[in-house]
Amino acid sequence: LTPLKDTVDIPGMGVAIDSRETTGSPSDLLLHHFNQITAENSMKVEAWYDADRNFRINPDAVSLLDFAAANDVRVYGHVLLWHSQTPDWFFHARGTALTSSEEDKQFLRDRLKTHIDNVAKAISDHSGLFGSDTNPMVAFDVVNEVVSDGNEPGDGLRRSAWYSVLGEEFIPLAFEYADEAFNQTYAAEGSDRPVKLFINDYNTEQSAKQDRYYALVERLLAAGVPVDGVGHQFHASLATPTSSLDAALTRFAALPVVQAVTELDNTVGTPVTEANLIKQGHWYQDAFNVFRSHADDLFSVTVWGLTDARSWRSEQAPVLFDGDLQAKQAYFGAAGLD
Ligand code: XIL
Repeated sequence: LTPLKDTVDIPGMGVAIDSRETTGSPSDLLLHHFNQITAENSMKVEAWYDADRNFRINPDAVSLLDFAAANDVRVYGHVLLWHSQTPDWFFHARGTALTSSEEDKQFLRDRLKTHIDNVAKAISDHSGLFGSDTNPMVAFDVVNEVVSDGNEPGDGLRRSAWYSVLGEEFIPLAFEYADEAFNQTYAAEGSDRPVKLFINDYNTEQSAKQDRYYALVERLLAAGVPVDGVGHQFHASLATPTSSLDAALTRFAALPVVQAVTELDNTVGTPVTEANLIKQGHWYQDAFNVFRSHADDLFSVTVWGLTDARSWRSEQAPVLFDGDLQAKQAYFGAAGLD
């Protein structure tokens, strides 16, 4: 079969995985079609701490970094700050919940900075300096899902634990801390940041959410915040018009950032039927044609799972290969084959 990565002219054709996909036949399939990976869970905030709250690199993340370095695969990091999969104790001190007092704000700023510094140090201690041949990291989602789903007036931001202590400030801070931690050498060498810094969100193809996301990114860029890229998760269904993906990518192309499709999948409903899998093939064909038409602006496209059996929405058969590692109509559509 034609490698999927050869069918779209973009730097990264990615897939979300854990260490189970780094050995045996899953890894053969992965390396045939993809040249970039995202840790589905093992670089999230909670993954960096043991039960005693001690920071340490997750063994699954180590497997991914080693697999990537050994096979010349890029790693797209996910994620430095999120409201989910983050330990509750992050938002507590001395046994009580943090408030928006100046003292608590500073406490949470320091905790965020320490976390980001430790992540960068753990990865570079393991894989070498960012931007060197041995270090496969090319990007990191710095903040994830910070835009509100509702329609509160004002800043359009999710009322998360981060927000309730720090307000909007946590977003620029996370980017500044990440820039310092991951990109210490680039300025000195006058090169681009070796690790591109992304903002990431879902439903960005839907107009009200998209308006809020766009306004936020504009605001960050106007303030000089080091945002390199805008991520669109695109967790879609058969009912998602691919024209809306096109419109989203077209709109953000006006901004001085690159874009990434970070978590692509397409649920077909239950029960899964042959007719729907054929529709899904057409959906992927249209979606990948949209991506081809935006190739100049795309940093990467990542499918959220190697096989249906390993997808977070496995009961709705959302990705390109089935549980027996066989190509579905979805693959043939995506690759532009009949
Ligand atoms: C999901 C993983 O796929 C699951 O394994 C985990 O249980 C929950 O998180 N948006 C994101 C991803 O940014 O991190 C989520 O991944 C899916 C939604």
